[in-house]
Amino acid sequence: MTNGRMHKPFIPGLGLAAVLLTAALASCSGDEDGVTPQPDAGTTERDSGLPPEDSGTPDAGDAGDDAGTPDAGGDDAGTPDAGEVFPPTTLSGFGLFTGTPAAGGLRPVEGNIPYTLTTPLFSDYSVKTRTLFIPPDTSARYSASEVLDLPVGTIITKTFAFPADLRVPEENVRVIETRVLVRRPGGWEAFPYFWNEAQTEATLANGGRVVRDVRFIGEDGVERRLDYLVPSKNQCLKCHHVQDAQDNQVLVPIGVKARYLNREHDYGGEALNQLQHLANLGRLTGLPPLDSVPRAPNAFNEEEASLEHRARTYLDINCAHCHNPKATSGTTSRLFLNVENTDAFTLGVCKRPGSAGGGVGGEFDIVPGSHSTSILWYRMDTEESGKMMPELGRALRHNQASRLIADWIDAMPPQSCK
Ligand code: HEC
Ligand code: HEC
Repeated sequence: MTNGRMHKPFIPGLGLAAVLLTAALASCSGDEDGVTPQPDAGTTERDSGLPPEDSGTPDAGDAGDDAGTPDAGGDDAGTPDAGEVFPPTTLSGFGLFTGTPAAGGLRPVEGNIPYTLTTPLFSDYSVKTRTLFIPPDTSARYSASEVLDLPVGTIITKTFAFPADLRVPEENVRVIETRVLVRRPGGWEAFPYFWNEAQTEATLANGGRVVRDVRFIGEDGVERRLDYLVPSKNQCLKCHHVQDAQDNQVLVPIGVKARYLNREHDYGGEALNQLQHLANLGRLTGLPPLDSVPRAPNAFNEEEASLEHRARTYLDINCAHCHNPKATSGTTSRLFLNVENTDAFTLGVCKRPGSAGGGVGGEFDIVPGSHSTSILWYRMDTEESGKMMPELGRALRHNQASRLIADWIDAMPPQSCK
């Protein structure tokens, strides 16, 4: 068992763990100088831009010299500089979790709130857990359609794991990576952390990783194998980027929108609506009555919404971060898969792809009534690199989704595209 030691704060002056504790005990955390992260000095980017290496060996951690040794995560956890440099070289340097996957699992500290989405991004069947930390005495602002407006100091994490058998997802779990988004005064920053083989610590891996030959048994009982890609820091931007009003490319979170958060979560025996929970904790302002909050359905639950709504939701959360009018890939392909788009042509109907290259299953992105001649379906169904969509973030076909999109296209009134 790992002891319950306090992690060092990740930002000098914030005293994250201490602030959390204080907040939990009473509410007088108006101490310190509040959330005043240091400027960008000290960013460790020595390996950013390098192509991902083949690794997955215990000592693969590039930034953490000894992170792979069994006692990393012991008393002197945190490399000597954890808490002094930003970003911390190890995940534990953020002070957001206690425990380790090796010893009973990662447990979010008080104030680091776990959440789930109604429909998540598919990432090769990996099991993901997410947490949201909003500093005490600050709060997010509700938006009906956009990402919640999150205050400086917010940290969001997403951890990716593969159970040996998805039918028993709690057993024999290998945690691979934890991705972190931090809201700083200058905007959002993204960091990849890669878990060591001993499952005791995750180390900053700006260059990304390829984990060869990950194997697991799917829910259908079929064994699957893949080379799993941990994206590099630069690759985070491919999906987490939009153009702001001044045409600057800025990094943004994607999934923390009211419609995806509008569901219940089990907070240790008590199931509560996630948005209501945030509001109850004082971490969310402006939440209207829940029955007027929009909701994206679970794309695979027929009882929740129409086929159209479910298919559009799947495309929205899996594709629209690239295929929208404010993202580079969206603007080059002119294919807009965001749920707000009501224009059939830019949704792909009878649209010839902008990019050349044959062998993608047809001539048009969507041929209403015919999924098998629709490029959009073909590129979701294929596992061929260079053709498959999303172009980043998956190696395997999402069978259920391929069926969903096929059904959606087949249900459209037939039309022969010219
Ligand atoms: C292939 C596209 C893609 C890439 C590459 C990607 N992300 Fe994301 N990320 C998403 C999507 C879509 C969501 C929201 C859906 C979800 O959480 O399942 C998301 C969610 C997150 C979240 C939860 C908060 C949020 O935005 O909703 C974090 C944290 C995160 N990503 C960090 C990263 C980091 C760090 C990297 C780079 C190491 C990265 N992501 C690379 C697509 C991507
Ligand atoms: C990481 C960014 C990214 C994500 C995520 C992504 N795409 Fe793409 N997509 C691109 C880029 C870039 C192009 C243009 C180059 C090409 O055709 O390969 C493209 C092109 C396409 C095209 C051809 C469109 C045209 O008219 O030119 C289709 C169809 C497509 N994507 C479907 C999807 C679907 C469906 C998803 C989600 C399941 C998805 N994409 C997710 C980046 C992305």
